[in-house]
Amino acid sequence: MDIEKYGPWALVVGGSEGVGAAFARLLAADGFNLVLIARKQAPLDELAAGLRATGVDVRTVSADLSQPGALAQTRALTDSLDIGLLIYNAGANSVRGRFIDLPREVTQAVIDVNVTGQADFTRHYGALMAKRGRGGIILTGSLGGYLGSPTLAAYTASKSFSRIFSEALWAECAPLGIDVLHLNIGFTATPAMARLGMPVDMAESPETVAREGLENIANGPVWIVSTPGNAARARLISLVDGRAATVRAHAIVPREDTAKAAAQLQNQVAR
Ligand SMILES: NC(=O)c1ccc[n+]([C@@H]2O[C@H](COP(=O)([O-])OP(=O)(O)OC[C@H]3O[C@@H](n4cnc5c(N)ncnc54)[C@H](OP(=O)(O)O)[C@@H]3O)[C@@H](O)[C@H]2O)c1
Repeated sequence: MDIEKYGPWALVVGGSEGVGAAFARLLAADGFNLVLIARKQAPLDELAAGLRATGVDVRTVSADLSQPGALAQTRALTDSLDIGLLIYNAGANSVRGRFIDLPREVTQAVIDVNVTGQADFTRHYGALMAKRGRGGIILTGSLGGYLGSPTLAAYTASKSFSRIFSEALWAECAPLGIDVLHLNIGFTATPAMARLGMPVDMAESPETVAREGLENIANGPVWIVSTPGNAARARLISLVDGRAATVRAHAIVPREDTAKAAAQLQNQVAR
């Protein structure tokens, strides 16, 4: 990773575990100093200690991105730092249910993290990168953002926002020397998924996802992680015509059916 262009500091929003931690480890290995944000302080501290031992400077912010003060809390630490890379990774969905049945605070938190937070962080750090005339922004997306899935209305819509937002930003920021990438990932073995009881032994490794993101930062606006089946699924579910049939046939399955769906995909790819 080119530290002259994207360094010396990288900010990983959702950087305590899973894909975010993998980004942090890869960047530290390339000499980047890091600011890591997550809600839980203990995993942040543990990761930061390991990274500091490699010789880089690491600062942590315990903040909840669904709350209005998260950017201000982060800025209190970063206003004195030269941030050349923003990775907005947080944003998985933990509660499923019909949109009209779920409490507003549940669905609004998804929108606050994945839409408002992503837009606010991008505006602030993107403007600073524009002044420097160089930098990079990676926004973590999902294959789920190619079609609306029942019980995941706010989540799938928010990931669609992120992809379209990234495409526009990519075009706006290229002349400013800033690379923008929507890193579109499939089923990945993160601690968040494991806590939900998902069959993570069938999922992509966070290290592969993060490596592909960094390696392809200049190949935006969208990079679909190369896990077998991901690109084919993206093509299938983004068909323009026949949306009713597509949504009925290909929406994200209930959590208890994830292992079956992953096995079917692996069989299709193997054939
Ligand atoms: N894993 C998959 O199969 C999969 C598939 C498609 C897309 N994705 C996308 O990949 C990204 C990472 O997902 P993930 O599975 O690692 O789960 P995640 O719940 O997004 O967690 C990733 C990181 O974000 C932090 N985080 C989550 N919510 C936060 C909040 N409200 N405020 C501050 N920090 C927060 C977590 O730490 P704390 O919990 O301590 O806050 C953790 O460090 C997400 O954008 C997700 O949509 C994941």
